[in-house]
Amino acid sequence: MNLGVLVSGTGTNLQALLDAEARGELGAARIAIVISNNPGAAALARATAAGKPALAIDHRGLARMAFEDLLIAGLREVELVVLAGFMRVLTPHFLDRFAGRVINTHPSLLPAFPGMDAPGQAIAAGAKESGVTVHVVDASVDGGPVLAQVAVPVVAGDTAETLHLRIQAAEHVLLPRIVREIADGRIVLASPGPPRAE
Ligand code: GAR
Repeated sequence: MNLGVLVSGTGTNLQALLDAEARGELGAARIAIVISNNPGAAALARATAAGKPALAIDHRGLARMAFEDLLIAGLREVELVVLAGFMRVLTPHFLDRFAGRVINTHPSLLPAFPGMDAPGQAIAAGAKESGVTVHVVDASVDGGPVLAQVAVPVVAGDTAETLHLRIQAAEHVLLPRIVREIADGRIVLASPGPPRAE
């Protein structure tokens, strides 16, 4: 199963996927391409260092549909799209092309704290715990069907940064596990049939 991983920043979740693949722990999944909307993303260097094709498609100056058309073109061999710290909202124009086969990792226990800076939202709300959610992406912001969640405690003295680091450690285990379970057919998403005609 060819994976396309979309990233915007540091790429620690991408690294967890690359490392899992290198250890033979992604089952039938293989990272085929990494694409970033941010040409300066450290994640792109991680992909290149692992010998993976890495592509920057700068969203700035592009209409949303034109940006998504370039993403779709870059992902033409791909059967499962993984959003690993990808900070752009995708519209049905993109999502329909992949028919329910786009997943995301989000640093909270959704539906709590959707959107930006979920760890900061958890701290501001005085939450006793937060966590990570891997979910199917639909046109809502962080609202698609949940595949798996892991809770992470908020501890005394936590800042958004320290809580986020603890959540990311959980993400780095959960995301590769869910990708493997999809690739091995233990989690069934939409049909992997041919893409819908445009
Ligand atoms: C991750 O914690 C991911 O859950 C979050 O961005 C971080 C990216 O880190 N994504 C979102 O907040 C999406 N709403 P990484 O670049 O080191 O993988």
